[in-house]
Amino acid sequence: MSALICGSFAYDNIMVFQGYFKNHILPDKIHMLNVSFLVEEMRREYGGCAGNIAYNLHLLGGDPIPMGVVGSDFSAYAAWMEECGLDRTHVAQIKEAFTAQAFITTDLDDNQITAFHPGAMNYAAQNNVADVDNVSIGIIAPDGRDGMVQHAQQFVDIGVPFIFDPGQGMPMFDCEDLKRFIEQSTWVTVNDYEAELMQERTGWGAAEIAQRVDALVVTCGGEGSRIYVNDGVIEIPNAVASPILDPTGCGDAYRAGLLYGLMHDLEWETTGRIASLCGAIKIESAGTQNHSFTRESFATRYSEAFGQVLDW
Ligand SMILES: Nc1ncnc2c1ncn2[C@@H]1O[C@H](COP(=O)(O)OP(=O)(O)OP(=O)(O)O)[C@@H](O)[C@H]1O
Ligand SMILES: [Mg+2]
Repeated sequence: MSALICGSFAYDNIMVFQGYFKNHILPDKIHMLNVSFLVEEMRREYGGCAGNIAYNLHLLGGDPIPMGVVGSDFSAYAAWMEECGLDRTHVAQIKEAFTAQAFITTDLDDNQITAFHPGAMNYAAQNNVADVDNVSIGIIAPDGRDGMVQHAQQFVDIGVPFIFDPGQGMPMFDCEDLKRFIEQSTWVTVNDYEAELMQERTGWGAAEIAQRVDALVVTCGGEGSRIYVNDGVIEIPNAVASPILDPTGCGDAYRAGLLYGLMHDLEWETTGRIASLCGAIKIESAGTQNHSFTRESFATRYSEAFGQVLDW
């Protein structure tokens, strides 16, 4: 059985300006801002939540089916997916839009100026979850708003349990939306910031959200993660990561671990540690799909990190 991964595909264009924005922005001319930064260094990474989660789940030996909508410029990403052995059956391409993409310019103080163009992501609702066979679990990761809303209902209709993962899509949803997603989903996963926002917006505390699902998983970056289940909270330690190079995509890597554990009926203690180790391995590489491991090397590192044999 497979995991259906609904979410975005995106190019991340990352540019590093070898200077300081503050030296080029004149505070008294802010009303007529017109700045151009010469950036010698540029990377174009394959990203987007569905792409990233599928990439990591595939490394773990799970069976991901990513689902999303991409644009006319997808061929380079498609070739990468081919190389990785990732399924593209439910990656729909439309000609009238670009693939979603982020343009991130960073300066030497780590300040960032980012533009995000959603492009084809806004057509996410063109895909239908019910078109995919042999799915035992799903995830709704950040994507076009209508797509996220409709895919959640479609999972309910076909009786497939899913993880609700609003991520950077949180601002699109009001109290009623979030309550509906929580009631529809079987698991909810958010980082600590999104967890605060979700509690504020719904008026439900973490325990109240957890009561409505099988588990609420909250990741706290370098501090580890917490899994709220009906009868308590399971603390998941982080694995040591070295070097800490680029946190982007840690959340997606972590979610692949969650999907793997849930698909294989593992204990939460193990599922959380697999997820945590995935996040730690990811942070050691720049970009979201440049790290790699085999099942053997993963199991070895798991034992080293947690002092337990991984039985998966
Ligand atoms: N410094 C770190 N050392 C080890 N593991 C880490 C570190 N930072 C993150 N992780 C792992 O990755 C998980 C997810 O990280 P985090 O909570 O930052 O997600 P996020 O904020 O959703 O990230 P993003 O959206 O940028 O991918 C953490 O719970 C942890 O397991
Ligand atoms: Mg995140």
